Amino acid sequence: MRGTFVERDRDPHVALREALLNSGRRLPPPREPVVRVAAADLVTETPRQLQAHGLFLGALDTLPEDEDFILLGTSLGELIPETDPAVQVHVSRDVLLNLVSVHAETDDVSLQPFATGPLTLHSEGSGRPVAGQPRYIVLMCCDPGAPAARADGREPVPGQTVLIPMAAVHEALTPAHRDILRATRYRTGQAVPTVLREVDGRPVFSFRDFGSSALEWESDAAGVTESDVDDAFRALLAAMYAPERAGAVHWARGTLAAIDNTYFFHGRTSGATQQPGSRRHLKRLRIRTARHTGER
Ligand SMILES: [Fe+2]
Repeated sequence: MRGTFVERDRDPHVALREALLNSGRRLPPPREPVVRVAAADLVTETPRQLQAHGLFLGALDTLPEDEDFILLGTSLGELIPETDPAVQVHVSRDVLLNLVSVHAETDDVSLQPFATGPLTLHSEGSGRPVAGQPRYIVLMCCDPGAPAARADGREPVPGQTVLIPMAAVHEALTPAHRDILRATRYRTGQAVPTVLREVDGRPVFSFRDFGSSALEWESDAAGVTESDVDDAFRALLAAMYAPERAGAVHWARGTLAAIDNTYFFHGRTSGATQQPGSRRHLKRLRIRTARHTGER
């Protein structure tokens, strides 16, 4: 069965998304603590925390050089090169992407990581086969940027990286919706995984909120209709944007976040406009692991 999911203005997640990403609210930090760590101990501390929590949040005493940051990535797996021609101007040493807020809010998806607007919730590389999806994303903050004062006098909140635990989203879905999502995938030329699958006995999603764009899908779910599949997507989106599940990374110089892409959806709140001459700067690595590609 094939279909196309397009969100409706009245879908519950539309208002929830607006409230989560665009309200200028300061979200609570994720459950896992920020660990004070010497740059030299990163290579041992990062995999330990990732193993335990699917997340490592560190506060570094000094910022590692690009070379040492890349070494940290290499210790976790194979670095994925940044090949998109649109982002090459922001790439160092083939694998390190400099995320700098240099654009105003934009509808151009390839430029959104470099803009001050929001990024809808997603797992990284959801449109690619499992072997091409990163297992880990490592982000390090060089400059959080200085937000400009707000016209209404409230305290400006810089862009936050939002993290949503996949297990909690799965928990919130009905068994019927889970069954549908386990048998449904994007309809593309690539062998993409189903929206929901299992890795090491944990529920893992491969999914991006397409916003107002159409999502073409195909499904092997038995005994259901097209609108049942669309309803399962609606339920998934509402569970992702439910406010009680959201945690956020609040960036400061030296904050490091290593995120397991099989544990968390991520996204970004719209940042406060930056003071002239100030800009947010994060460095990003994407890492795949052999074990990840061999999963069932
Ligand atoms: Fe992302």
